[in-house]
Amino acid sequence: MSESAQAAGSPVRAYNEWDPLEEVIVGTVDGAHFPPYDVVTAAPLSPQQRAVFRERAGQPFPADEVAAARDELDQLVEILKNHGVRVRRPDPRDHGRSFGAPGWTSTGLYDAMPRDLLLVIGEHIIEAPMAWRSRYFASSAYRPLLKEYFRAGARWSAAPRPELSDELYVEDWTDQPEGEPFRSVITEFEPTFDAADFIRCGRDIFAQRSHVTNMMGIEWVRQLIGADYQVHVVELADDHPMHIDASLMPLAPGKVLIHPDRVPEVPSQFKDWEVRRAPSPVIPDGHPLYMTSKWINMNVLMLDETHMLVEAEDRPMQELAESWGITPVLCPFRNFNSFGGSFHCATTDVRRRGELRSYL
Ligand code: ARG
Repeated sequence: MSESAQAAGSPVRAYNEWDPLEEVIVGTVDGAHFPPYDVVTAAPLSPQQRAVFRERAGQPFPADEVAAARDELDQLVEILKNHGVRVRRPDPRDHGRSFGAPGWTSTGLYDAMPRDLLLVIGEHIIEAPMAWRSRYFASSAYRPLLKEYFRAGARWSAAPRPELSDELYVEDWTDQPEGEPFRSVITEFEPTFDAADFIRCGRDIFAQRSHVTNMMGIEWVRQLIGADYQVHVVELADDHPMHIDASLMPLAPGKVLIHPDRVPEVPSQFKDWEVRRAPSPVIPDGHPLYMTSKWINMNVLMLDETHMLVEAEDRPMQELAESWGITPVLCPFRNFNSFGGSFHCATTDVRRRGELRSYL
């Protein structure tokens, strides 16, 4: 642990997406399985992705794809270490095992995307109450770390354990017709959210309602983190919303990267910031993307205000960074992308060196 973290008394401490990164959790693809097929899993997917998920429900992801993604994660770990970042990893688990609660059973998904589960706000690390039954025990992978952080002085909370009973899901849900307002697959039965539906800018936190995050979930976070923070709910034009971090990405004070179509109106809080649109993705058409759109290209991770992890083959994103005074740090990650995320999703920044302040 660095001296500054020790002095501050908590090994968990991050207020935004860009302060100098000191410690990070990087996920694992080992043991990844397609989850059982149900309406809440289907909702954020495209029709083609739904067909694959239905057909392969309960099966492991292809072993060669897991191996290729594992290799890229290992390269990411090396790069982070070379930048002086302490890297923590979960132990792999077999996600083919079944588990359940009153009224339902499921098998698992993966521990590839700690960002989806763990929300770090200041010295507080929060376990999200995820809406997918397949992710009900997602936090188990990180419990050894969470206990360690807690013992060393972090605040650790978990949202009320959801029941994930049928009342949470809109049974006869269908996609909203084009141009109509967002129609979520989840109800307000109980609070649920994924951590990745939140993005941090110091005292201002931006959240989106999605197919996994409801208003009660956002309200629960707002209450928990209290008056030091303002939680803004943003309206994005994502036709399959799940996770804000391929739509609205604050990179550094004064610099926000947006998806070219999903942000019809940049939230007014950013009025003094420079807004740039993410360049079109260069991922080839035949490349498998089981769970996301190609806009996963904008799911970058800042090492500090002037260093950004970018996919090794993504020239346009590298050029955007350079033209914005940011040095791109390259890492091959396309095989990992297939699993549903890029650098931001694959990580949880546990500690960044900085203070709580306003940037907007
Ligand atoms: N829903 C986004 C898209 O398809 C991907 C977001 C992934 N983020 C994550 N934290 N897993 O473009």
